[in-house]
This record gives sequence, structure tokens and C-alpha cells, in this order.
Amino acid sequence: MLIRYKKSFEKIAMGLLSFMPEEKDIKKLQNTMKQYETDTNWQLFLWKEEDDVIGLVGIVAGHNDTVSIQHISVNPSFRFQGIGKTMIKAVMDMFPEKEFQPNEHTAAFLEKCDLA
Ligand SMILES: CC(C)(COP(=O)(O)OP(=O)(O)OC[C@H]1O[C@@H](n2cnc3c(N)ncnc32)[C@H](O)[C@@H]1OP(=O)(O)O)[C@@H](O)C(=O)NCCC(=O)NCCS
Repeated sequence: MLIRYKKSFEKIAMGLLSFMPEEKDIKKLQNTMKQYETDTNWQLFLWKEEDDVIGLVGIVAGHNDTVSIQHISVNPSFRFQGIGKTMIKAVMDMFPEKEFQPNEHTAAFLEKCDLA
């Protein structure tokens, strides 16, 4: 189930974000988290199964018709089960009127989702 990020999920969200190759540096990671918490265009979603948060998708949805997928990450223990693709589909279903596009860090996987 896709849920919206809230502060009580900060640690698990940072852990998931840190799997993105460009978010390995702790300062960069903290800045990214801060932006998701303060910039209303930046929106973070988590994938919850039973009581576990095992995935994350971060988007930037501005005032135009496009949504950029900035971050996508799945807990390594749960990869290759289709969760990444399911999360992308669930986020797209939340904004049916928008056109989705990857950024340089998510393009490789989004090509697999028939999006890029
Ligand atoms: C990318 C990621 C979210 C995929 O999650 P997942 O739940 O395993 O994805 P799915 O099970 O839906 O899809 C698996 C497919 O994605 C492919 N894939 C995994 N990582 C990929 C990557 N970095 N680039 C392109 N394809 C990738 C797998 O090879 C697999 O392909 P197949 O269907 O041909 O076997 C996960 O590997 C991850 O968290 N990676 C670390 C974070 C990251 O690098 N994110 C940016 C990716 S561009």
C-alpha cells in the first residue's frame, strides 16, 4: 500500500533513500530529506506491506502537467518481486492527469516500467 511520508518514518525513509547511488553522502541525503519535508512540490511516498515499510518513491509535482520521478528504492530483501514497478504504477494512478518523466537517476529503471 502506498502511503504518504510523515516525520515518524524519517529514519526508514533515509535508509531507503540511501540506496540511491547519488544519495550515499550523508549531507546530500539530509538535504534531500529536508527538501521533501519543506518543499510542497517535493512529495515522498512509502510502500508498506503489513507493518513493514519496504519501498520509497519521491516525485516533484510542480504546477505544470509533468511529474518528475526523482527517487525510487526498494529494500534489498524485497527486490525482484515486482514492488518497484507496482510502486511506480500506484504513484501514476494518484496523478492520472499528469505526464510522468524520469530524472537522470531513475531513468534506467523507469525504462523497465515502459515509462521513459
Ligand atoms: C531499482 C529498484 C527500485 C527496483 O526494485 P524492484 O522491486 O526489485 O523492481 P521490480 O521487481 O519491479 O523490477 C525488477 C527489474 O528491474 C531491474 N532493475 C533493477 N535495478 C535496476 C536499475 N538500476 N536500472 C535498470 N533496471 C533495474 C531488474 O534487473 C529487473 O529486471 P527484469 O524484470 O528484466 O528481471 C531497486 O533495485 C533498488 O532499490 N535499487 C537501488 C536504488 C536505485 O538504484 N534506484 C534507481 C534505479 S534507476
